[in-house]
Amino acid sequence: GVDLGKLLAKTGLVTLDPGFVNTAACSSAITYIDGDAGILRYRGYPIEQLAEKSSFLEVSYLLIYGELPTAAELEDFTHKISRHTLLHEDLKRFFDGFPRDAHPMPVLSSAVSALSTFYQDSLNPFDPNQVEISTIRLLAKLPTIAAYAYKKSVGQPFLYPDNSLGLVENFLRMTFGFPAENYDVDPDLVRALDLLFILHADHEQNCSTSTVRLVGSSEANLFASISAGINALFGPLHGGANSAVLEMLEGIRDSGGDVQAFVNKVKNKEDGVKLMGFGHRVYKNYDPRAAIIKKTADDILNKLGGDDSLLDIAKQLEEHALSDEYFVSRKLYPNVDFYTGLIYRAMGFPTKFFTVLFALGRLPGWIAHWREMMNDPATKIGRPRQVYIGQTERDYKPVAER
Ligand code: ACO
Repeated sequence: GVDLGKLLAKTGLVTLDPGFVNTAACSSAITYIDGDAGILRYRGYPIEQLAEKSSFLEVSYLLIYGELPTAAELEDFTHKISRHTLLHEDLKRFFDGFPRDAHPMPVLSSAVSALSTFYQDSLNPFDPNQVEISTIRLLAKLPTIAAYAYKKSVGQPFLYPDNSLGLVENFLRMTFGFPAENYDVDPDLVRALDLLFILHADHEQNCSTSTVRLVGSSEANLFASISAGINALFGPLHGGANSAVLEMLEGIRDSGGDVQAFVNKVKNKEDGVKLMGFGHRVYKNYDPRAAIIKKTADDILNKLGGDDSLLDIAKQLEEHALSDEYFVSRKLYPNVDFYTGLIYRAMGFPTKFFTVLFALGRLPGWIAHWREMMNDPATKIGRPRQVYIGQTERDYKPVAER
């Protein structure tokens, strides 16, 4: 019954922990990670089992509501989502205002932020019915927003969702269908993207999820909080790493394919070059998601005819790094992003779009954390302390005397 936070506050003690390396900001029952053992579980279920047997919508349900759905619950959830996929025509017009070469991540976060203006009937974070409808709207509309961001970038007309299709199939059709009636969605591609979404669906208190929680802790609504999370994901040290990996692989290929030379550059920390897609704050062992993805990368690239030369470079990089003292001593292993870019590219997505796919996958995790926080009586507004290192008190000088 002792509130350690309150007790410490009385002492006036402040801990300094840049990057929150050792500081937990909440307790959570959603995702378990053992970084040393390379274990990841959603609500207790090992990621390997979910990847093999589940679907993205089922995993979304599991993360948000805490249990796997019954057949009837899953059908109801799927049906509700399929009824909310359309974007308001006025929101559709937002896309006209962005430049054609706009990066799709800020387009995504802006459109999600704008949902607060369209759905003013569901902004109360403490009304369970309003939170529920916001949850469904987000899950249903983010794929449509993402597909429109893509269509805008290639100058093609937007396609309305076809709600007889599943979420991933619908998304692929809205993205690549041109004209829509000629687009047959490849079931292997649907399964592969569904699997990638499952692997991205949650990862406890990562940068974007912590952002969603911090913004939500001020009692900002779900749309506003998720929009902030999308912006946090944009950075190359987080979700943006999947695009950065592909740019790195292409750079190595275009400068002659000398993998060892690149590894040496990383080790010598030349120009701050990092091996993108390697390393993780929590995993000090092989990222279990990367292990699953590596297996699928081969299959998908074989089937879709992806660029094998880049896959070769990636595999060589991994081999060199995993046998090198620099990486071994720092426990740097491939993370989830190391192989995903190659798969996304083979599927036909442009590099800039990869992080959007991460956002689509991570959405249920963000929602689950926001809802968990709102229902937790221990929640307080997030307000970190600081250690002040500036000037001590001094007197103001009029401008003529400075
Ligand atoms: N390449 C080269 N060296 C690295 C890398 C890397 N990818 N990652 C860490 N290191 C080195 C650091 O330079 C540091 O070395 P030092 O002790 O000589 O100074 C040491 O390993 C420890 O690294 P930190 O920076 O302290 O690790 P931190 O936990 O702060 O960072 C991060 C984790 C951001 C993921 C980092 O490993 C990184 O920048 N990786 C590349 C970007 C990336 O792939 N991000 C995706 C993360 S997963 C995700 O969001 C889905």
